[in-house]
Amino acid sequence: MYIDLIALKNYRNYEDVRIEPCRGVTVLTGDNAQGKTNALESVYLCCTGRSHRTSHDRELIRTGSEVAYVKVSGVRRDGRHDVEISLSESGRRQVKVNASPVRRSGELLGHITGVLFAPEDLRMVKDSPSVRRRFMDMELSQLRPSYYYALQRYNRALKQRNALLKEALIAPVDPESFDVWERELSLSGAEIVQSRVSFVGKLAESASDIHASITAGKETLRVTYEPSVPPGESLSETKDNLAKQLLNAREKDIKRGLASFGVHRDDLGIFIGDMDARSYGSQGQVRTCALSLKLSEIELIQKETGEAPVLMLDDVMSELDPDRRRQLVKRLDGVQALITCTDKNDLAGAEIGKLFHVKNAILTEEV
Ligand SMILES: Nc1ncnc2c1ncn2[C@@H]1O[C@H](COP(=O)(O)OP(=O)(O)OP(=O)(O)O)[C@@H](O)[C@H]1O
Ligand SMILES: [Mg+2]
Repeated sequence: MYIDLIALKNYRNYEDVRIEPCRGVTVLTGDNAQGKTNALESVYLCCTGRSHRTSHDRELIRTGSEVAYVKVSGVRRDGRHDVEISLSESGRRQVKVNASPVRRSGELLGHITGVLFAPEDLRMVKDSPSVRRRFMDMELSQLRPSYYYALQRYNRALKQRNALLKEALIAPVDPESFDVWERELSLSGAEIVQSRVSFVGKLAESASDIHASITAGKETLRVTYEPSVPPGESLSETKDNLAKQLLNAREKDIKRGLASFGVHRDDLGIFIGDMDARSYGSQGQVRTCALSLKLSEIELIQKETGEAPVLMLDDVMSELDPDRRRQLVKRLDGVQALITCTDKNDLAGAEIGKLFHVKNAILTEEV
């Protein structure tokens, strides 16, 4: 797929701008703090419903304004898909898909699909498990809105059960209250686990192929799913496992005041040969692993939806050595890419379709 319009009003430092990317490589270049990342962030917002930098809508609204508006218009095989989001200070959002208002935020998912690669992703392998879980969650949500809803239900139930755990320390709590939330945790939790099992299976396969190619066969990458509770053979078996363990852990959890396990503790295992790259990978190795994972994300979306997602590269070229840059550029064929950089020389020979200079939120096209 490709997008041909990004319209922003009072979004971050943009007052009112329309950006029309080309189908190939569109470059946004300029000094620091001019609005390059802000533009990519707005596209990511229309892909996932979330900013990759903040969970507070307020920060996305231009200082001094009350409402921010983002529209991204894309073309897929089956026609045009528009996502529009209005953000207000009160935190209430208005979302439209193809000009019709939607009630649930998850309904915007799957219309504009995108993969964002930012410098912090290069540290994904060494970061805390939460970063790798977010990688799984963002990807799976775009592919399956039902996953996104399961996550929402899980997080709500987790919060409720945690509140009960705290209450129970002070005064006895009716066990039935626990039952209610544990039932929801095991139901939504099982959906999440099963989706992650199948997702990581596919991801692992393509990441290991890509990694072998990037390292010219010198390294084998093994990606595994490390669930906090072992998945069963089926959804209902996983659900029963979760329910049983939650019940068993209840007393202990009350003493700790916190849930001791659950899908919010899962991790992604990343190994080079037998070595755990999360603990022992060298800086170069973990960067290559991150690159392989990101590239396989593109491949996976392409396989699942039949169309390549929009690739956004935020300042990553400058963080990669020439060899890895070339590997990345090699894979831009047939993929729409939005690339930001401060130095055009970092583009490693990518064929540029359109180039915009960004200065203080004003874009000038260089021809
Ligand atoms: N809500 C907001 N209202 C107004 N300006 C904002 C808002 N949020 C961020 N900015 C401004 O946006 C600018 C940063 O934009 P952005 O992160 O896109 O920079 P960049 O061009 O990617 O820079 P770098 O090369 O350093 O990554 C800063 O000047 C910041 O003050
Ligand atoms: Mg930036």
